[in-house]
Amino acid sequence: KPRLYSGMQPSADSLHIGNYIGALMQWRDLQESYDAYFSVVDLHALTQPNDPGELREKTRRTAAQYIAAGIEPSRSTLYVQSHVPAHTELAWILSTLTGFGEAGRMTQFKDKSARYGADATNVGLFTYPVLMAADILLYQTDVVPVGDDQKQHIELTRDLAERFNSRYGETFTVPMPVIQRDTARIYDLQNPTAKMSKSAESDAGILGLLDAPSVTAKKIMRAVTDSEGAVRFDREAKPGVSNLLVIYAALTGRQIAALEDEYAGRGYGDFKKDLAQVVVDEFAPVRERALAMLDDPAELDRVLAANAERAAAVADRTLADVYDRIGLLRRV
Ligand code: TYM
Repeated sequence: KPRLYSGMQPSADSLHIGNYIGALMQWRDLQESYDAYFSVVDLHALTQPNDPGELREKTRRTAAQYIAAGIEPSRSTLYVQSHVPAHTELAWILSTLTGFGEAGRMTQFKDKSARYGADATNVGLFTYPVLMAADILLYQTDVVPVGDDQKQHIELTRDLAERFNSRYGETFTVPMPVIQRDTARIYDLQNPTAKMSKSAESDAGILGLLDAPSVTAKKIMRAVTDSEGAVRFDREAKPGVSNLLVIYAALTGRQIAALEDEYAGRGYGDFKKDLAQVVVDEFAPVRERALAMLDDPAELDRVLAANAERAAAVADRTLADVYDRIGLLRRV
């Protein structure tokens, strides 16, 4: 089976519907036909300030949400990044192959460093995409399913793989991104021209996978729309309604045109009420399973440990090959 790799940061108590539609739903479907690896990238999360106790909790919560959403830890390898030391080791090697300017051109770094200012920007934020490249390349990955915001990082990963291969001989598989065009970017419900993001100032526009059903419904009923009153897809003129249509279509597997027909001549109230039901029906069972798992963290920790062992066996082989090829003296 071809290899698949993807991951998410444990940067909030709950994943949001952008993570769910942009990534998790694809992971769940693809895990059948791939040898899949899914990580909770806790080392990446360190590029933001973190309370130690909260980071541990968010890491478990993220893993529990993967499983609750249908990632099967007996079929796919689901683990915590820091449990496999080869990630940071390969990241160091790759950083010596990455140009300073090349890393500086990453738009996510440019956005974040502009937002925080030079003094509050840590070097980890700069080398973040190199660690991500190490994640992917350690597993000889064929495909990386992600939302559209990660595309540039995967292009860098491909460049690094090709550079290493041409300098030291065929070592890494060059991975392909898999990005679902229609759902690759879900927007904030209160600010529908901005990507839904865990770092948003207010969570009123963020639908959390672990939100209580009444909270989900309230957030959808209060979503920003427009004054036209017609349920119609038009990204430019109607970003709010268009975003809700994309969510509705993604969760039901229905076409946007069919939804437009169904709601023709009806107001936003009906449309939002139905959408709230769709999202609650989708999220409620996932939420219940995740919360139940979090009641027994010891069992979850055992699953993660067993999976990390599987991951490390693959990662260590690649790392040993890399060390050999670049001429690090082997310890006898
Ligand atoms: P992260 O944690 O920001 O996001 C996890 C996944 O969710 C997708 N996503 C979205 N998709 C649609 N609409 C949105 N509003 C939205 N917000 C987030 C992201 O594209 C991503 O697929 N650098 C990565 C984590 C990472 C990784 C990796 C991914 C580290 N190593 C190796 C793949 C392979 C990140 O910060 O994702």
